[in-house]
This record gives sequence, structure tokens and C-alpha cells, in this order.
Amino acid sequence: MHRTVLVSGGAGFIGSAVIRELVDLSWVGVVNVDKLTYAGNLESLSSMASDSRYTFVHADICDAATMRDVFQTYHPDVVMHLAAESHVDRSIDGPAAFIETNIVGTYTLLEAARVYWQNLKESDPEKAKRFRFHHVSTDEVYGDLHGGEDLFTETTPYAPSSPYSASKASSDHLVRAWQRTYGLPTLITNCSNNYGPYHFPEKLVPLMILNARAGKSLPVYGNGQQVRDWLYVEDHARALIKVATEGEVGETYNIGGHNEVTNLEVVERVCELLEELAPDKPDGVKHYRDLITFVADRPGHDLRYAIDASKIERELGWVPRETFDTGLRKTVQWYLDNGDWVERVTSGAYRDWVEKHYGGQGVGGANHG
Ligand code: NAD
Ligand code: TYD
Repeated sequence: MHRTVLVSGGAGFIGSAVIRELVDLSWVGVVNVDKLTYAGNLESLSSMASDSRYTFVHADICDAATMRDVFQTYHPDVVMHLAAESHVDRSIDGPAAFIETNIVGTYTLLEAARVYWQNLKESDPEKAKRFRFHHVSTDEVYGDLHGGEDLFTETTPYAPSSPYSASKASSDHLVRAWQRTYGLPTLITNCSNNYGPYHFPEKLVPLMILNARAGKSLPVYGNGQQVRDWLYVEDHARALIKVATEGEVGETYNIGGHNEVTNLEVVERVCELLEELAPDKPDGVKHYRDLITFVADRPGHDLRYAIDASKIERELGWVPRETFDTGLRKTVQWYLDNGDWVERVTSGAYRDWVEKHYGGQGVGGANHG
């Protein structure tokens, strides 16, 4: 049976991976609703351009009238809501956009979905029964872990630390309230740090690859001993599709890669892979790792994130395919092979951000691979 999936934020890093995965399913049509902020790039979906099952709608999820129109026009069976402001450092510099998109935008989309679903119950009760609203969130809502063995479970209390994670926590609360109060059939996933192709080069992994290739310093915040649980983006995309199509309404699923690595180790592994895959170093660079530079710590920096993903593994049979070693190798190779994509996404706005954020600490402007 044909199903229409409305993906918000489909031009972003994870959303584009979800769409590339969805169009492989013959029974799915995809509507991508994206505002195309600095982080949204249709270049990441160029393979979709001529696919008749794919439609792009250039819109802001905070625009209530347009969101109502989108539901009325496309009659989705499933919503996968990924649109968000997603970078912690930017949320520290300017939280307003995070409040607007992550909280007000989620509220606006929930309301449009609720009105649509309530009408559907009258006009097409079977379709209304199948309807799902899947909200894509982060493990950062749980705050951080200080013990070496603790893991975030689906019942860990919320304790967000940054404006980003607080805005995502707020949006999770709204989604639960819309389920409990109005009965909207929602699902929530909370995932750990992703990495992989098409990742905007302000985040740790792509920034390090591109800076190293340009002979620029590799800025490690604080002592680099913070731990993240890294998941390859395609593993996340497969998990999201499983939850959206097979998950139980009202449930939350944690998603993680069982790959806990300190930030310093991530940067060192990137350097090792570059030694192997790109031995022709920039002038003046003897070893890529010599570029590692410890810089001022991030305010409120979370110490450790680690996910207990046993619920999604047990109940939905999802397991990650990539280890950190295999996924990171693919990622480094992808950035080495896709200088054109990097060139096109690193606009003037991106260069301004890098200059503002790292300017005083010796990291130059954008790197073009
Ligand atoms: P991203 O920043 O790469 O992409 C976000 C997308 O949303 C962009 O295409 C952007 O144009 C779009 N967008 C932003 N504001 C919008 C608005 N007002 N209206 C419509 N579109 C808008 O983010 P990502 O890394 O792909 O993250 C996607 C989702 O997954 C987010 O909700 C994020 O919180 C969550 N998440 C991310 C990670 C991670 O490691 N990146 C981990 C767990 C959860
Ligand atoms: P990031 O990719 O911004 O993801 P998040 O903050 O959502 O975890 O950062 C990952 C980790 O890397 C985080 O602990 C901050 C650290 N980091 C650096 O040490 N240097 C950098 O230049 C960046 C961007 C991040």
C-alpha cells in the first residue's frame, strides 16, 4: 500500500539520510518540508531531484497556515519531524532561533497534525488509525553522566544543560502532552551523536577532517576527555524508519551506537585515518596530529553521554551495522571524495560563524577540503 511520509528538516544531515533511505522503499512517497537554513542543503538530495515520488516544499515549520496547507495538500500517513536548530555552540551564542524553531515550530507542527488527524478520523478512519507523528530528539535532553558505567534509558529524568538541549527537551514534553491530552499517535526517539557523510562542517568530526586537510589547527575543547556515544548516520536513519513504521504509539526509544569515545580520541582517530588515506599533507604539516590544539572549554559542557539501546534492539530488532572504526573510515573517505559538496555548503554565513567562534583561538576561516 502506498504511504506518504512527510519529513521536516529533510535537507539537513540526518533528514537527508532518512530520505535517501525512504525512497529505496517502493511503497513510500516523500514530502520534504524544509526552510533551508544555513544547515539545509538540497545538494544532499541531488539524487532525488528527478524521482517522481519525492516532493520538496520550501517552508518554515513555524508558519501555521502553511503547515495546515501542507497537511491538506499531501495527506501524509506518517510525519517524521527532524527540523531543528541543532548546534550546541550556536545555541550558546544565540538561543532565540532554538526557542523559535525547536519549541514554537514543534508546537505549530503538532497543532497542524492534530487538526488534520482529527478531520481524518471522520473522513478516513482507517488512515487516521495508521497515522503517526514521530518526533526525532536527542540524548542531550537527559543532561550528562558522571559515572563511567551509567547509561541513559528511556526513563532517565530530563536535565538538559544547554539552550539546544533545553529546547529539545521542551519539544519532547509538548509531543508527550499532545499524545496524552489529544490522543495524537506520537512516538519519540532520543539518539546519541551522529556522524557520517553530508554532515555540516561545524560539528566535531567533519570540522576536524576538513581543518586537518587544510593544515589548520584542530580545536579540542577543554581537556578533550568528554565522552560521546557515536552512531553512523545511516544506522540512525534505519532506526528512525523502523520506529516510524513499526514502533508502538506513545512509546519512546533510545538509539545509540555502543561506541563511547572521548573527543580527543575521535580527533586522534581522524588523524590516523588521514595519515593512511590522505598521506599528501599540506605544506608544513609533518603529522596531522600535530595540529591538535586545546582551546577554551564550552560553557556548561556535558561530560559524558551513553545510550542503553536495548529497548529498540529487543522490541524492533534494530542493531547498528557500523562500528566506530568502519563508520569513521567511510566518513573520512567521503569527505576526501566530496570536496565539491563541502565547497558549496560552506557559504559566507558559515565562514562568518567559524571566524566568530574560533577566530581568537587560531583557527582560520572555512576550509574547502
Ligand atoms: P541539521 O542542522 O543538519 O538539519 C536541520 C534541518 O532543519 C536543516 O535542513 C534546516 O534547514 C531545517 N530547519 C531548521 N529550522 C527550520 C524551520 N524553522 N522550518 C523548517 N526547516 C527548518 O540537523 P541534524 O543533525 O540533521 O538533526 C536532525 C534532528 O535530529 C534534529 O531534530 C536534532 O535535534 C536531532 N538529533 C541530531 C543528532 C546529531 O548528532 N546530529 C543526534 C540526535 C538527534
Ligand atoms: P558537536 O559535534 O558540536 O556535538 P554535541 O555538542 O551535540 O555533542 O561536539 C561533539 C563534542 O566535541 C562535544 O563534546 C564538543 C566537542 N567539540 C570540540 O572539542 N571541538 C570542536 O571544535 C567542536 C565543534 C566540538
